[in-house]
Amino acid sequence: MAGCTNFFLSVFDYKTEKYVIAKNKKVGVLFRLFQLGVLAYIIGWVFLTKKGYQEKDDSIQSSVITKLKGVALTNTTDGGLHLWGAEDYVIPSQGESVFFIITNFIETPNQRLDYCAESIKVPDGHCREDSDCTEGETVIAGHGIKSGRCVKSTGTCEIYGWCPVEKHHKQHEVLLEKAENFTVYIKNFIRFPKFQFSKSNVLDTNNDTYLKRCMYHDTHNPYCPIFRLGDLVNWTGHSFQDMAAKASGGAVGVLIQWNCDLDKDYSKCNPVYSFTRLDVNSNNSVTSGYNFRYARYFKDTAGLTYRTLYKVYGIRVDIMVTGEGVFICDMILLYMMEKSTFYREKKFECAKYDSLRCRRNKDIERKMPHKERAPKRKATWKGKFTELSTEKSTALN
Ligand SMILES: *[C@@H]1O[C@H](CO)[C@@H](O)[C@H](O)[C@H]1NC(C)=O
Ligand SMILES: *[C@@H]1O[C@H](CO)[C@@H](O)[C@H](O)[C@H]1NC(C)=O
Ligand SMILES: *[C@@H]1O[C@H](CO)[C@@H](O)[C@H](O)[C@H]1NC(C)=O
Ligand SMILES: *[C@@H]1O[C@H](CO)[C@@H](O)[C@H](O)[C@H]1NC(C)=O
Ligand SMILES: *[C@@H]1O[C@H](CO)[C@@H](O)[C@H](O)[C@H]1NC(C)=O
Repeated sequence: MAGCTNFFLSVFDYKTEKYVIAKNKKVGVLFRLFQLGVLAYIIGWVFLTKKGYQEKDDSIQSSVITKLKGVALTNTTDGGLHLWGAEDYVIPSQGESVFFIITNFIETPNQRLDYCAESIKVPDGHCREDSDCTEGETVIAGHGIKSGRCVKSTGTCEIYGWCPVEKHHKQHEVLLEKAENFTVYIKNFIRFPKFQFSKSNVLDTNNDTYLKRCMYHDTHNPYCPIFRLGDLVNWTGHSFQDMAAKASGGAVGVLIQWNCDLDKDYSKCNPVYSFTRLDVNSNNSVTSGYNFRYARYFKDTAGLTYRTLYKVYGIRVDIMVTGEGVFICDMILLYMMEKSTFYREKKFECAKYDSLRCRRNKDIERKMPHKERAPKRKATWKGKFTELSTEKSTALN
């Protein structure tokens, strides 16, 4: 019973806080220093350095389209004269963000399905007598199916396949040396989905001749999206002729970076290009370079198929896009719409502690009872702000 009475009595107790003021300079200075430290951290680091007041969007959406231009003429003993256009030397030719440019090739023309000797370069094709070449077996990493005979003159098995087999010789001169002057047009569209912001790397101009004439240069012409292939390799710190001839090709990365402060003007959001060679570790001639094979098929007058085999060497270009956009105004807008409780709290705070100012506001409003309180509603975030603050004062009446 007694506990119950105590409880009832304590319910009607009034509690208040008591402050102890330490008249000690050391403690006082230390306390102020601590406060200053926190303040400096918030203002200096969070706001000024990290731009904590800005909303960030690093989920950049991007699309890259490429187009190459230029022609090269080659003259080989096997194939004769051949004119190479972009449709021949760019693989794939659809204009993708990763593409390969042929700078050199080994051509094996007039291959027909027939019997011939396997290449001496294939270890599994070597033989001393017919019994080494089991009929019907395929040559491992070779060019055809063993016929069961050993060709004494070459020391290799006879095969059924595309004959004659490819000649293995290393090409030392660059056949498409004019490729240095080919141009690459890179069209890049980006979007920051959070801010509904889109832009392209092509300079916004009505001048038709601009894109036909301009050539990218990091200081003289940074907003022209057309690059000379030789420069592209040069900016990676390598020479085009070395890469094409000595290393038999390579891989070049083009990085497009969009770091945009969207509080600034639309024209201030521009890409920055950087160039790197991606296969730098391949000093070793066995692993260096980049090549693959493809064939073109034809029919002769008798309707029989023959083909020309190409082993092509070249430069692979990888275009990568990264970036982030930051924006302050949008954060305020999001904050207002999503956190309406924030405003309710503010209102409450005003009624409880800042009663003096609230009363004064009320007095002013009472003096002008017919004043139209709702402001003109604007679509901007500023409009939203005034709207909300009017609601606040209305709720207090
Ligand atoms: C191509 O090469 C052959 C011999 O190698 C030569 O006779 C011919 O004139 C050359 N053609 C051109 C257009 O250079
Ligand atoms: C590329 O073009 C420049 C200027 O037009 C020319 O001087 C140079 O010889 C060309 N390079 C090749 C490999 O043809
Ligand atoms: C268009 O661009 C070209 C090359 O940049 C320049 O020479 C020409 O004066 C420009 N024309 C106009 C109308 O601005
Ligand atoms: C790149 O080009 C500049 C100017 O033409 C030249 O001086 C430099 O040697 C080149 N760099 C390489 C690696 O070829
Ligand atoms: C590649 O070889 C050159 C000299 O031939 C040498 O200077 C360079 O350090 C080598 N690079 C690597 C990654 O081994």
